[in-house]
Amino acid sequence: MGDELKAVLVGCGGISTAWLDPVTKMQDVRLVGLVDIVEEAARKRAEQYGLQDAVTGTDLRTVLRDTDPDIVFNCTIPEAHLEVTLTALGHGCHVLSEKPMADSMENARRMVEAAEESGKLFAVMQNRRYAEPIRRLRAFLEWGQVGPLTTLNSDFYIGAHFGGFRDHMPHVLLLDMAIHTFDAARFISGADPVAVYCHEWNPAGSWYDRDASAVAVFEMTGGLVYTYRGSWCAEGLQTSWEAEWRAIGPGGSVLWDGHEGFRSQVVAETGGFQSKYADVALPPHDAQGETGGHGGLIRDFVGYVREGRTPGTVCTDNIKSLAMVFGAIESAETGRRVEIEA
Ligand SMILES: NC(=O)c1ccc[n+]([C@@H]2O[C@H](COP(=O)([O-])OP(=O)(O)OC[C@H]3O[C@@H](n4cnc5c(N)ncnc54)[C@H](O)[C@@H]3O)[C@@H](O)[C@H]2O)c1
Repeated sequence: MGDELKAVLVGCGGISTAWLDPVTKMQDVRLVGLVDIVEEAARKRAEQYGLQDAVTGTDLRTVLRDTDPDIVFNCTIPEAHLEVTLTALGHGCHVLSEKPMADSMENARRMVEAAEESGKLFAVMQNRRYAEPIRRLRAFLEWGQVGPLTTLNSDFYIGAHFGGFRDHMPHVLLLDMAIHTFDAARFISGADPVAVYCHEWNPAGSWYDRDASAVAVFEMTGGLVYTYRGSWCAEGLQTSWEAEWRAIGPGGSVLWDGHEGFRSQVVAETGGFQSKYADVALPPHDAQGETGGHGGLIRDFVGYVREGRTPGTVCTDNIKSLAMVFGAIESAETGRRVEIEA
């Protein structure tokens, strides 16, 4: 593999700027093509980023044939992720795709199979793993004072007046947002989903057509119980977009406000009605570059392509986060506890 990798970006809508901003500054990646079913969208991005030499077009196959890239960045809508990924892998490209990996578990499994057959890397953009505070929390938990987690809670309450397609989308919170929080739960705990019970509803006063609130209880590996409470139509006392977290182990507890704020207490002395606790400050953590949101993950992905290593958000792992979303939806629809199989 030469010094410079060639990349094509597909889907030139809203999120594409979060990709093009960092990619166009990378010295060792050259954007050779921009694709969108709306040609004007691709041309507009080419002009905006000074990519006059890049091929623009509406058909991915044609652009792949004309440019022969190493990597495809997929920023299309979820319903297009299967087709774009299979086409890119079939052309021998590595693929980094926007979340959610797929619009169904069946399609996600087809994508994993195609990646395995092609021998190429297929990973998913879970940019929230690339925030410094979540790395700091994870490093603290790995340090071991709290012990293996028994309980993990997250609260996500944002009154988001998007307008547009989300106002009418079924399972809007679970499908469009909770993938981030569920993936964060796996990242923080190192545990994988076993089963879920979920209740979804649309609260009175909601400006969404469909269920914009949900509560879910996940049984996770190692006996961990993870609870999710969330809403996209909760006014006042907004949480962080990263959610607010409490993690409990036999040795103590940690609170993370989803911003920069942490509190932790560990058991200092037992024997009485209540133990005595010591406050512990979370040490600063050198995330060794694994921060920076979209840009950080894209940079790592390119490094992994070069080195033949496997990123944390590789499809074979990320499908477990997606399985939490579809398990929660099935439970909400059937009113039953659902066993989760990735
Ligand atoms: N990681 C994050 O924080 C984050 C934030 C927002 C959106 N997203 C994800 O990014 C993806 C895109 O979201 P968006 O907000 O940019 O949507 P958008 O509607 O603004 O843009 C999508 C673009 O894809 C194009 N497109 C659709 N089907 C295509 C196809 N088959 N081939 C080529 N182009 C196609 C559309 O014409 C449009 O220009 C979604 O999967 C969404 O969930 C992620």
